[in-house]
Amino acid sequence: MQIPKDLIEKANDKLSRVANSAEFYQVRSAFLGKSSQLTQLFGSLRDLPKEDKIKFAKELNAIKSELEGIFERAFDSLGSSNQSSANLDLTLPGIDHGLGTLHPISVITQKITSYFEQNHYSVFFGNEIESDFFNFEALNFPANHPARQMHDTFYLDDEQKYLMRTHTSNTQIHAMMKYGVPLKMLSPGRVYRCDSDNTHLPMFTQAEGLVVDQNASFGKLKGTLINFLNHFFDQEMEVRFRPSYFPFTEPSAEVDIRFGKKGWLEVLGCGMVHPNVLIGCGVDPNQFTGFAFGMGIERLAMLYYGVEDIRDFYSSNLEFLKQFNTSL
Ligand code: PHE
Repeated sequence: MQIPKDLIEKANDKLSRVANSAEFYQVRSAFLGKSSQLTQLFGSLRDLPKEDKIKFAKELNAIKSELEGIFERAFDSLGSSNQSSANLDLTLPGIDHGLGTLHPISVITQKITSYFEQNHYSVFFGNEIESDFFNFEALNFPANHPARQMHDTFYLDDEQKYLMRTHTSNTQIHAMMKYGVPLKMLSPGRVYRCDSDNTHLPMFTQAEGLVVDQNASFGKLKGTLINFLNHFFDQEMEVRFRPSYFPFTEPSAEVDIRFGKKGWLEVLGCGMVHPNVLIGCGVDPNQFTGFAFGMGIERLAMLYYGVEDIRDFYSSNLEFLKQFNTSL
C-alpha cells in the first residue's frame, strides 16, 4: 500500500484558498469524505495481510487525525473572519445617539449676552460661591437687611461668611476691583435663594449689567433698558420704571413691561450705583457715575416662550424641552 505523504501539505494548500464555508465543506469532503483517497485506503486495508493491516492502519489513522485537526482549526478561523465581513451590512441605517440641543435658558442667556456684546459690553463671569463681603457688604447691605437672613440665603458655614450668591450683583464689585473704571460689563450666571413656587426657584439665572464712566446717567440707563427690551421682544414694548429700593443703587427702580392680558410684569431691577459702592471699589464718586441693572433670565424666557410654570425649565422633561427646537 502507498501511503500518500503529501496529503497534509495538499490539504493545507487548498484550505489557504478557501473563502467561505461552502468552499470549506467541499475541500473537507475531498480530503475526509466517503469518496476521498483516505477513505478508499481505509477500505483497502481489509485485503492486506494481518501485519501490514496493523502497520498501515496506524499510519492512516495518524494522517486522518492530523487532517481532522487541520480542518477543525481552519473552520474556527473561517467562522471568526466570516463574522466581520458577512454580518456587516453597510446599507443598514446608522444608530442615532441623539445630539443634544441648547437648553432654552442657555438660548435666552446667549441672546441677551450677544445683544450687550454688540453694544460694547465685556462679558464677565463671576463665582457662585461667594463671601458675605462681595454678596452683601461691599454692596452696601446693612447688617440687618432681610436678604441676609437665614431663611432667604443658603449659607455654607455656621459663621455665615460664605454663601451661594443671592444675585449677580457681586460681579459689580469683582469687575470694578479687577478692571477699574471706566467699565461696561455684562455678567450672566446662576443665583440662589430659599424660594420655590410656580414663578420662583431656589436656583435661577440673572444677567447683571454695569456701566461706570464720567457721564453715566439715569437717562442713559432708561434708554439702554428700553432699547434692550424692544430688541429682545422684537417689538415696541410698553416699559414702566417704578421707584424701588436696593442698598447698592440710588435712585433705584424696578422695570415692568406690559404684556398682553397679563398686564404689567416686573422683569428687572436697576439704578444708579450708590456712591458707597464706588468708594469701596476705590472709585471717586465725584469723577465717576455708574448705572447697574439685573434681570431675571427665566422670567424673560417665560414671557418670550409663553411658559407658565418656571419649574418646567428644570424638570428634565425632554418632551417639554424639545418644543423649543433649540438646535445648535
Ligand atoms: N440684584 C438685584 C436683585 O437681584 C437687581 C439689581 C441689579 C438691582 C442691579 C439694581 C441694580 O434683585
